[in-house]
Amino acid sequence: MAKLDFSKVPEYAGRQMFLDPAGPVTIQRYDDFRYQRMVDYVKAQRGAFWIPDEVTLLKDRIDYEQASEAMRFIFTMQLLRQTALDSEQGRAPAQVFTPVCSLPEAEAWALWWTAFEQIHSESYSHIIRNIYQVSKDQFNSLHSVDEILGMLSGIDKYYHELHVINSKKVVRDDLLEKKLLTSELDKVLYISEHDHIKAIYKALIASYGLEAVRFMVSFTTSLAMNENKLFMGNGNIIKLILADETLHTEATAWMINTVVKDDYRFREVAHELKNEARDMLVQVVDEEKKWANFQFQKGNILDLTETNMCNHVDRTASIRFGKIGVNYATNFVAPIYPWFESYLDSNSFQAALQETEGTDYLVDILTTFMDVGKLPNIIKRY
Ligand SMILES: [Fe+2]
Ligand SMILES: [Fe+2]
Repeated sequence: MAKLDFSKVPEYAGRQMFLDPAGPVTIQRYDDFRYQRMVDYVKAQRGAFWIPDEVTLLKDRIDYEQASEAMRFIFTMQLLRQTALDSEQGRAPAQVFTPVCSLPEAEAWALWWTAFEQIHSESYSHIIRNIYQVSKDQFNSLHSVDEILGMLSGIDKYYHELHVINSKKVVRDDLLEKKLLTSELDKVLYISEHDHIKAIYKALIASYGLEAVRFMVSFTTSLAMNENKLFMGNGNIIKLILADETLHTEATAWMINTVVKDDYRFREVAHELKNEARDMLVQVVDEEKKWANFQFQKGNILDLTETNMCNHVDRTASIRFGKIGVNYATNFVAPIYPWFESYLDSNSFQAALQETEGTDYLVDILTTFMDVGKLPNIIKRY
């Protein structure tokens, strides 16, 4: 952690979101902030608190015993890869973004975002412990699935790069203050602001690929089972997680678009990294298609096939990448799995309204404040 200077009034409202010259967040005061939208994201996430222990999984164990080998394989592998991805996301955003946050609302978002990913990790443990006789064997097997390890390193790489740069900066500043910074050490530790911003931007893009595509696609098999009244406990938990990931997807897209719009340093970097950012996201698509091949190796289940799943990945990527200005052409305009859209629709009251309005409608149940001007016209008429 950087040495914090508590002697200055922070004046957050005039700062950039990340790496403002005034430094990181010192006092956590929320009367002084820049982005109301981000405050609302924090309130929306906190207001959606839930724990997996509330969801019963009794029937899921029976479903598992009666399931085909192909269904058991898909169910298990999906749980393991979700455990792996949320292990990354249940730690990294708080670890790598809070040191570079210059706004209290951005820091709060990174902390709550990460905390909910940790709830997701606990959820997968809750499911695995309840369904398998020896949960240890399932968890241990995760470490030898190359497809899962590949996905983990694909995102961990960008978080690690930012973490190293954050750490170098702290050590360099400390040595500088103590007058111990030699020219040799400076050669190793110096990081330009431009390179630091690049690392933050790439970590945000990596987060977006995970939230917007990997997590969304990973829920498809669980929700298909739920549609067929199978593994309903798992399905109920996945629906809760899907609501969280929908919020994370929107918030991450908003952060990327906002820093590029409001901070010329990020605008420069976004321009410079345009091709690299697209390549990062296309790699996510490629890995999801490889995963489709892997998970259907023992056969298709329900209306799911490798081909349809790959088309579903393409369509999801095309829609989601477009939200951050990355073009990804696809022939699939209509939904591949129409029933999947209904699960997204149950969360679309968040996405649709938040794109044009605030998130107040989500949090007004927790506050006495309501801006009548923000209500849709149809409500105001009555
Ligand atoms: Fe998650
Ligand atoms: Fe998430």
